[in-house]
Amino acid sequence: MPFGGSMHDLNESQRTAVTAPDGPALVLAGAGSGKTRVIIERLVWLVDERGIDPRGLLALTFTNRAAGEMRERVAARLQLDRLASWVGTFHAFGLYLLRRDIDKLGRAKSFTIHDDSDQLSLMKRLIKDLPSGMLRVSPREALSWISRLKQDLREPDWGEEPETDEEEVCRVLWRRYHDGLAKASGVDFDDLLVLTARLLRECDGVCEKYRRRFTHILVDEYQDLNAAEQEFTQLIAENARLTIIGDEDQS
Ligand SMILES: Nc1ncnc2c1ncn2[C@@H]1O[C@H](COP(=O)(O)OP(=O)(O)O)[C@@H](O)[C@H]1O
Ligand SMILES: [Mg+2]
Repeated sequence: MPFGGSMHDLNESQRTAVTAPDGPALVLAGAGSGKTRVIIERLVWLVDERGIDPRGLLALTFTNRAAGEMRERVAARLQLDRLASWVGTFHAFGLYLLRRDIDKLGRAKSFTIHDDSDQLSLMKRLIKDLPSGMLRVSPREALSWISRLKQDLREPDWGEEPETDEEEVCRVLWRRYHDGLAKASGVDFDDLLVLTARLLRECDGVCEKYRRRFTHILVDEYQDLNAAEQEFTQLIAENARLTIIGDEDQS
């Protein structure tokens, strides 16, 4: 039953998870065991049975497809045309926050998102402009190296000395890439997470606003969260009822 359904179709453990009392709840189960379904039913249960204001619900997941399915199914079950809860991907949520308050980090609200091909052409240019004696790395290699460290919440000038020539050149490229993006008022996909974590960490007013707004936060695929996603989820969820769903085989 892909759409519709009801609490009665749930198995025993799903029902226990859906109706878990307030307070942090952690649900671990295998792939395809009905975890995302638990989030959907819990959203419905919170509104229908517990009388929670849907505007106070935040559900985060990884793919647009999963987010769309959640939104549609919860709306259908609650017989609403449009769900007032915030249900979407981590990246979409980051974008939503940054569009409102990125100026508090000293950056323009009119930023543009640099996608894969924008990143690649910027990086190709930066590699071409490297001093002639420097090691050449491929643009993809440099970008994935930078991405890994950004998702781990490092900054281009983090303390440790580079250990290899490759690392040294990647660090130079990272600083130039960072400046190149800033000059173009651009953010990349990782910035949607990293800058959001920074915004919530550094701007108490912004963090307070979302803490007041979201009373219940539900996170799917928790085992896949990177450091930036973990930090911003924890910051916003400080006073909220948090439900975490994860895959026990991939944690
Ligand atoms: N209790 C249930 N009875 C019948 N089908 C279910 C039940 N729970 C989930 N499903 C279906 O099983 C499939 C996998 O569920 P899903 O929630 O996406 O699993 P997971 O997130 O754990 O991978 C989906 O098609 C879903 O509609
Ligand atoms: Mg799932």
